[in-house]
Amino acid sequence: MDPFDFSTGTTNPETFPTDALAQAAARAVQAHAVELNTYPGRLGHEGLRKLMAQREFDREGVRLDPERIALTNGSMQAVTLVAEALCEGHDDIVVMEEYCYSGTIRAYRGLGIEMAGVPVDGHGMRTDALASTLERLRSAGRVPRFIYVLATYQNPTGHVMPRDRRMELLRIAREHRCIVVEDNCYGDVHFDGEKVPALYALDDGPRQVYLCSLSKIFAPGVRLGYLTASSPDLFDRIVDRRFDAGPNTLAAAITAEFLEGRLWEHCEMANQALKAKRDAMLAALEAGLGNTCSWSRPPGGMFIWVRLPDGTDCARLEAIAAERGVSFSQGSDFHVDGQSGPYIRLAYGFARVADIHEGIARLAQSIEEAIGHRAHP
Ligand SMILES: Cc1ncc(COP(=O)(O)O)c(C=O)c1O
Repeated sequence: MDPFDFSTGTTNPETFPTDALAQAAARAVQAHAVELNTYPGRLGHEGLRKLMAQREFDREGVRLDPERIALTNGSMQAVTLVAEALCEGHDDIVVMEEYCYSGTIRAYRGLGIEMAGVPVDGHGMRTDALASTLERLRSAGRVPRFIYVLATYQNPTGHVMPRDRRMELLRIAREHRCIVVEDNCYGDVHFDGEKVPALYALDDGPRQVYLCSLSKIFAPGVRLGYLTASSPDLFDRIVDRRFDAGPNTLAAAITAEFLEGRLWEHCEMANQALKAKRDAMLAALEAGLGNTCSWSRPPGGMFIWVRLPDGTDCARLEAIAAERGVSFSQGSDFHVDGQSGPYIRLAYGFARVADIHEGIARLAQSIEEAIGHRAHP
């Protein structure tokens, strides 16, 4: 493993609550012997669904019916389930941010879905470009199966879509009668400033699908996410596509036992540690790359998106940085068509603060070397 790992998109290893979780596990197994010896059904552990309904109410002020929440094997299962349910096996096209989560891109590519990338700016998906993309598709007689969007602490850019742009996105989607699939994986990884409402909380129409996760506020290894939809028909259409006999009761029961009564306390503690890492990375970038590169300043989430000088050979940079023990993700991994641009994504959750300072200094040296400053002083 690289000592300066800025590629792994997980939360702090330091805030993982090993002892308290072990105690919760013992209690959960005792309390759930019957459920553990039974198939979970299509929605999964009721206690965790109720807790997630409360989580959504606390954040968005929207009362979700726990009977319309389905737990999934991470939100990644929800990402694929939605596509399997809403695509038709021919001429399938999904509209999404041009730079988007690489896992979704890989999954949709694997399912044979065409992806239409909409350019992003510092406020997320550009709605003027969304409108023209949908118009272009309409003129070609094509109907997107859905719009997939990461409006909050976007992966990979860290950007947040402001409220007025969200309203505009919803208006455009309504005009085209298009389903919106909102992936709010990072919604509670919040550090500063105002929290912008989720898209589903701003629209009471029937074409909203919402995905969320426990990976980013708790632990990716529990593999727990969930989905809901704004109409019972849409919800059933998606959940009827699941053939896995339901989500893991053991993981859900232990997680619910641990988080009950302390969800926000746990988030607060994890977010404080993450915020310190974000701040350390921003300061180190300023010190090392202030004259060469520009980058995003995310108010939440786990990633900083760095724009390298034009013409930087990212593959060369990756090799040079690896020699110095530094890893990051290449911008092309997040492009819907795999296009290479002058971007890299830095993840700050996994590394320790001290390693962030040293690792970013090494990255700065690597960038200078890659762009040839050393050769032409
Ligand atoms: C935007 C986004 N969606 C979904 C996922 C999948 O997360 P999980 O399956 O662990 O919930 C990730 C993980 O990085 C992500 O960044």
